[in-house]
Amino acid sequence: MDKYYESLLKSVEYIKSKIKDKPVLGIVLGSGLGMLASHIQDRIELDYHEIPNYPVSTIPGHAGKLIFGYLSGKYVACMAGRFHYYEGYEAEQIHIGVRTFKLLGADGVIITNAAGGINTAFKEGTIMLINDHIGFMAPSALRGPNIDMLGERFFDMSKVYDKQYLDTARNVAKKIGLDVKEGVYMFFKGPNFETPAEIRAARILGADAAGMSTVPEVVACAHCNLKVLGMSVITNMAAGILDKKLNHEEVMETANRIHETFIEYVKQIVKEL
Ligand code: HPA
Repeated sequence: MDKYYESLLKSVEYIKSKIKDKPVLGIVLGSGLGMLASHIQDRIELDYHEIPNYPVSTIPGHAGKLIFGYLSGKYVACMAGRFHYYEGYEAEQIHIGVRTFKLLGADGVIITNAAGGINTAFKEGTIMLINDHIGFMAPSALRGPNIDMLGERFFDMSKVYDKQYLDTARNVAKKIGLDVKEGVYMFFKGPNFETPAEIRAARILGADAAGMSTVPEVVACAHCNLKVLGMSVITNMAAGILDKKLNHEEVMETANRIHETFIEYVKQIVKEL
């Protein structure tokens, strides 16, 4: 068996020995959105340090835990603290969380992030449902030997943002009177924010939001056939749109400001998925 796959199975085996039920859904929490985890009932928290073969997250605002329990009546697995390309992780470490969800038996994943708004109709605090992405600016996180046990070498990306999940998210927004937008998320390598010229180029390419995560994980989801609902919180307008410097504090401030609305929205979606 592939060595990497074997080590992943060891992580999953350890997790299974600690949890009470099979998670039906995985949730990846973006910068400043970790508060959602405190709404999970009957919670079991596993620090990344204690899970065999798991990397550890290094960013302030990313807790570095897998959290299991009931959210809106469903048993979920939640990743509070993710692994970014810019932190220097190996390709297979970046998407270890979603592969863990798959091997634990989940059908799908809600992947959230903080992002910069490229679409000038957006505002700080806008929630954007991701209907597609642009990720060709960085090497694929799936480069290297294919893990046949998880999926095929060459795989389709045309339906990875699941249509039913998107419909559910749209309907829930309507029901609770939340004005959500939709658009294309574009991956940037980070850790620097983009230049104004990069953002103008991204807009021409069709991007609505810029971020430093999500795409590697979504590609891994497509590979192992996990359904995806992608959600961005627009924490700032992207470089060059407003006459101000970008910084991580603003990202966290906006995420904190809207986290209650965001949590309520995600809880309702989980109920309906
Ligand atoms: N660019 C990239 N990633 C981000 C941004 C941004 O403006 N805001 C939050 N994450």
